Amino acid sequence: MSKLLRTVAILLLGNLGWTWALIPSSSLGGLSLSARRYDSIFSFGDSLADTGNNPVVFAENGIPNPVTRTPYGCTSFGRPTGRNSDGRLIIDFIAQHLGVPLVPPSLAYNGSFRRGANFAVGSATTLDVAFFPDGKLPLNISLGVQLEWFESLKPSLCHTTQECEEFFGRSLFFVGEFGVNDYHFSFPIKTVQEIMLFVPDVIGTISTAIQRLIEHGGASFVVPGMIPSGCTPPVIAMFSDADPAALNSTTGCLEDYNSIGMHHNLLLQEALEKLRGKHPNATIVYADLFGHIMEMVESPRKFGFEDVLAICCGGPGKLYCGDDDSYLCEKPSARLFWDGVHLTEAAYRYIADDWLRSIDYSPATARERSFSY
Ligand SMILES: *[C@@H]1O[C@H](CO)[C@@H](O)[C@H](O)[C@H]1NC(C)=O
Ligand SMILES: *[C@@H]1O[C@H](CO)[C@@H](O)[C@H](O)[C@H]1NC(C)=O
Ligand SMILES: *[C@@H]1O[C@H](CO)[C@@H](O)[C@H](O)[C@H]1NC(C)=O
Ligand SMILES: *[C@@H]1O[C@H](CO)[C@@H](O)[C@H](O)[C@H]1NC(C)=O
Repeated sequence: MSKLLRTVAILLLGNLGWTWALIPSSSLGGLSLSARRYDSIFSFGDSLADTGNNPVVFAENGIPNPVTRTPYGCTSFGRPTGRNSDGRLIIDFIAQHLGVPLVPPSLAYNGSFRRGANFAVGSATTLDVAFFPDGKLPLNISLGVQLEWFESLKPSLCHTTQECEEFFGRSLFFVGEFGVNDYHFSFPIKTVQEIMLFVPDVIGTISTAIQRLIEHGGASFVVPGMIPSGCTPPVIAMFSDADPAALNSTTGCLEDYNSIGMHHNLLLQEALEKLRGKHPNATIVYADLFGHIMEMVESPRKFGFEDVLAICCGGPGKLYCGDDDSYLCEKPSARLFWDGVHLTEAAYRYIADDWLRSIDYSPATARERSFSY
């Protein structure tokens, strides 16, 4: 394989699995979704949120998929479920906490979607495929395509405007994380400066999607930001050889690649503020992933992590997680990264706990509230 192809393969596999993150109350701008009761969760995103769509999509496109093999799922499910982790994702912890069923993957589940549907697919981009050079990836599963899937499902859930406002008014919508794959797919062919130029297009697409969901009746939104790409093991492995001095001597991360996520998150928060102005009845919460991952990288012991920049599963060399003879760490719960760019259940749990402080509805808090009235 040429260096470029190999690079693309690493990025793609790295991106095959995408997962998730959460909301520190500090980034909520005084907003919270608390004390609301949700009957369902609808989710759009990539491998950070995909609860089982990628096996369907990858099989349809004839792309090998390590995620369908053990040890994926080993911590919580005892079998691979299509999640890009050893166990539960942020969205799973949130569903469990809110008392809503684990959000069924829209392409893989044959049942009712009245309690929610997950349209997220590993490797999904925000921008449509036409933006990217011809190739096997990215697949035609962008945010815009996921919205079309939602719009096809909608008539099975509600009909009139009022009925839809009532139904989706009791739903929690997750829009993202989106952006990681747009940027990571671009790493082999674009400089950081060139990538920065299309961040506004990514943000505009996310913002338009939320607007469309509000028009469909959505009222409660959680919108996760980007991760620090420069702290992910595949990106460090790929780019630090060329310039070892680019590594931050404290964290071991690549500042240049982290700056993309910082820029994205800044523009995203500005866009959400504008949406709040336009739609005062909607609650739109920004959910921070970047800060949480940085905190884990900077203070691993606080989280019980022994090694934060090494993957738990995969390697040596070109072996992927799930390949015969690939490496598997002894304690996934002591790691931040599971495979290429995806986090372990342990990391997702910490992030979910924090996000939940902003999305909190639990019988206990509801009881407290009712006593105080
Ligand atoms: C979906 O469920 C229906 C009835 O519950 C069944 O007839 C059908 O074969 C199922 N389809 C798949 C793909 O499992
Ligand atoms: C992508 O999928 C959508 C919806 O399924 C379809 O309308 C569109 O034509 C597809 N685009 C490409 C480039 O295949
Ligand atoms: C290195 O990382 C630390 C901790 O995140 C940060 O405070 C510092 O500014 C970074 N150094 C450079 C040169 O970017
Ligand atoms: C917002 O909610 C109020 C009170 O329920 C309602 O009167 C108003 O029409 C709503 N505004 C929009 C733009 O939906």
